Amino acid sequence: MKKRYAIILAAGQGTRMKSKLYKVLHPVLGKPMVQHVLEQVKAVDLEDVVTVVGFGSDQVKDLLGDNTKFVLQEEQLGTGHAVMQAEELMKDKKGTTIVVCGDTPLITQETFEKLFEHHEQEGAKATILTAKAPNPFGYGRVIRNDKNEVERIVEQKDASPEEQLVDEINTGTYCFDNEALFEALKGVSNNNSQGEYYLPDVIEILKNKSEKVSGFQILNVDETLGVNDRVALSQAEKVMKLRINEQHMRNGVTIMDPENTYIHADVVIEPDVVIYPGTTIGGNSIIRENAIIGPNTEIQNCEIGEDSVVKQSVATDSKIGKRVNIGPFAHIRPDANIGDEAKVGNFVEIKKAELGKGSKVSHLSYIGDAQVGSNVNIGCGTITVNYDGKNKHLTTIEDDAFIGCNSNLIAPVIIGKGSYVAAGSTITKDVPSDALSVARARQSNKEGYASKLKNRLQDKN
Ligand code: UD1
Ligand code: CA
Repeated sequence: MKKRYAIILAAGQGTRMKSKLYKVLHPVLGKPMVQHVLEQVKAVDLEDVVTVVGFGSDQVKDLLGDNTKFVLQEEQLGTGHAVMQAEELMKDKKGTTIVVCGDTPLITQETFEKLFEHHEQEGAKATILTAKAPNPFGYGRVIRNDKNEVERIVEQKDASPEEQLVDEINTGTYCFDNEALFEALKGVSNNNSQGEYYLPDVIEILKNKSEKVSGFQILNVDETLGVNDRVALSQAEKVMKLRINEQHMRNGVTIMDPENTYIHADVVIEPDVVIYPGTTIGGNSIIRENAIIGPNTEIQNCEIGEDSVVKQSVATDSKIGKRVNIGPFAHIRPDANIGDEAKVGNFVEIKKAELGKGSKVSHLSYIGDAQVGSNVNIGCGTITVNYDGKNKHLTTIEDDAFIGCNSNLIAPVIIGKGSYVAAGSTITKDVPSDALSVARARQSNKEGYASKLKNRLQDKN
């Protein structure tokens, strides 16, 4: 096998996106397009990957880090010019180089492998990955001669009416004999309707030198979608979403409505999880066996334990244990750690807090900056008063404590083990373990006073 290399083109601004965000950084299912491409490329056994950056180069470099080398294309003079920027790094290498665009996020490792194999078997100097497109508008068209050999590529804007009828497109992915590529690039001119140095012109140059040029047609057209605008971006989202969901379903996950479930590329879901409609699961989330998620739930970077249920809720950067019940309408904010068998009910917000095993916060509470032990019951409407306007303070609630409804726990404060806080208390001092703390005004009843009061008010009218 020859040595294999890859060049990713990612320097364009993406004018047609009409966005401040550079095109290849637009996410598809939560991951920037160029990162999708790089990950699929990297899955192939390669010597080296070079990414051509230009617009947004700092952001693209930050994103891709050590996973690729970079070259800078200072002015975006076309895809041929972009590849030229890799000349110094690449031109003397013997082997096969794949060139792929950073705006084709659906292309897969398998396709790269097949393209390499086809190219090497054919002994070609260049092989274009082509596809029959139902709507070829906007793509370069593959022009074949009467022997059905690839002759050249013509861009949409340069194509004659007859050429525009061709439905075989250039997917923007190619395999080249590396040395032949850099040699041929020297002959590319910008004499075309866009005044750009087109990479596809290399095909005609090689052909004129009687070199072998081949076309490899991919049957799954979806993979070749090039994202130039937001319409294509939404199409890419849809294809990627169904691809990911199908994989999870094949692995034993029930997804009630795959069209309406958004699972990002790096999420791990174990078998027998059930996902209801309207759910988004993103980041590095892990959903353990038998969990039930949704409907209408948003989970980012969370681990959800076995047999847990998260209904109509939002959870971010947190860990949720086994057999936990969350929601409906709960908000689990970053750094929550919810223990096994705990319960977080409706209109409860938890932030930077640990909730021990079997503890319950069933209704309308805020628990932030708190350390809650096991088997604690937190009554409806309880608030950890964590913020004094300047600093955040910790509330500690020890095991088996019972917090009555509508209590304010003014932090820093410790509620001791097994203690009891009476409903409606505003706790400003630590409560010793096993104590009953009542911190509210004493009730006084004035018998018969209600009708007196009414009469007095009446007289005033
Ligand atoms: C290109 C191809 C077209 C093909 C289509 C497939 C050319 C001239 N045309 O068209 O035949 O059907 O892809 O999707 O190659 N880029 C740079 N530097 C530049 C210009 C572009 O790095 O100076 C990068 C872009 O960031 C992008 C990729 O190259 O990732 C393709 O550029 P784009 O402008 O999207 O080309 P298309 O018009 O889609
Ligand atoms: Ca494109």
